Amino acid sequence: MKKIVLTGAAGALGSQLRAPLAKLADELVSSDLVDGLENLCSNETYVKADVGDQAAMMDLIEGADMVVHFGAIPDEASFEEILHSNFLGAYTVWNASQKHGVRRIIYASSIHAMGMYPKTTRITTDMPHRPDTFYGLSKCFAEDMASMYWDKYGLEAVCLRIYSASGPVQNARALGSWLSYDDLIQLVEKSVTTPITGFSVIYGVSNNDRSPVDNSKAAFLGYRPKDNAEDFAEEILAKTPQIDPQDKAHMCHGGPFATVPLGVSGVQFIKKMSEGN
Ligand SMILES: NC(=O)c1ccc[n+]([C@@H]2O[C@H](COP(=O)([O-])OP(=O)(O)OC[C@H]3O[C@@H](n4cnc5c(N)ncnc54)[C@H](O)[C@@H]3O)[C@@H](O)[C@H]2O)c1
Repeated sequence: MKKIVLTGAAGALGSQLRAPLAKLADELVSSDLVDGLENLCSNETYVKADVGDQAAMMDLIEGADMVVHFGAIPDEASFEEILHSNFLGAYTVWNASQKHGVRRIIYASSIHAMGMYPKTTRITTDMPHRPDTFYGLSKCFAEDMASMYWDKYGLEAVCLRIYSASGPVQNARALGSWLSYDDLIQLVEKSVTTPITGFSVIYGVSNNDRSPVDNSKAAFLGYRPKDNAEDFAEEILAKTPQIDPQDKAHMCHGGPFATVPLGVSGVQFIKKMSEGN
C-alpha cells in the first residue's frame, strides 16, 4: 500500500493509530485541526485541514489508497456543530475519496447510531439504526452514505461502531462496552488488511464477557479481540452505587446519551457517572 490518510490524528483514538498505520503503508498522511503533531513517524507527514472544507479534503486525499476517517466531534453538541464536522465532514471525505479513486474508507462510526435499543436486545450489525442524539444521527448518515458509495461506485467502507474506547475500564457500563486501545488497533489493522470488505459494519468492543453486541456477521474481518473488561469487574462493581433499572441511561446501549436532551453533551454525563455523582 502506498498511502494512507488519517483524519482526527491529534485525537485520543487517532494518536493511538498513527504508528500502527504508518507500518501498513509507504506513506502516512495524518491530518487534524491542530498546528502540528509531535513524534512524527519516519514516513509520516502532517497536514492541518478542516474535514468540513471540501477543497482541503480534495487536496489531502489525492493519491491515497485508503482513508481512516476519525476526525469529528465525538460527543453530542448543537446541530450546527455536528452538521459541519460530522455530517459535512463525512460527505467531503467520501466525495473526495470517490473522485480520487480511493479503494476503502475505514470510518469511526459509533454505538450511538444504535443507542436507543435496550441493552436486553443483543444488537447485530444489520439491524435498523436507532440513534440517540444528533451525534448518533450523524453516524447513521455516514454509514448510509458509505453503503450508497459502495453500491454506486464500488468504494469500500468498514464502519466501526466503536462503543467505549479508553484506557482502563472506568464504570459499570464499560464492563460490556469497553474497547481497549490494543483491540482498537487490531480492529483498524484488520479493516485495512482484509483483502475485500465491500460495505461492512462491525462493533468496536473488546472480548468482554458482558458485551451486549453480536459481531458474528462481520467475522470475515478476522477481528479477534484479546482484552476483557471482566478483569476490572470486582473493583468497578464494588464502587458502583445502586442502579435504577428504569433509568435509560443504564438500560439503553447509548448509556447517558439516551437520556441527555438533544444538543447536550453526553460525555460530561459519563464523566460524572464515573466519578460516582
Ligand atoms: N472515544 C470513543 O470511545 C469513541 C466511541 C465511538 C466513536 N468514536 C469516534 O472516533 C473518532 C475519534 O474520537 P476520539 O475519542 O479520538 O475524539 P477526539 O476528540 O479525541 O478526536 C477527534 C479529533 O477530530 C478532530 N476534529 C474535530 N472536528 C474536526 C474538523 N472539523 N476538521 C478536522 N478535524 C476535526 C479534533 O480536533 C480531534 O483531534 C470520532 O469520530 C468519534 O466520533 C469514539
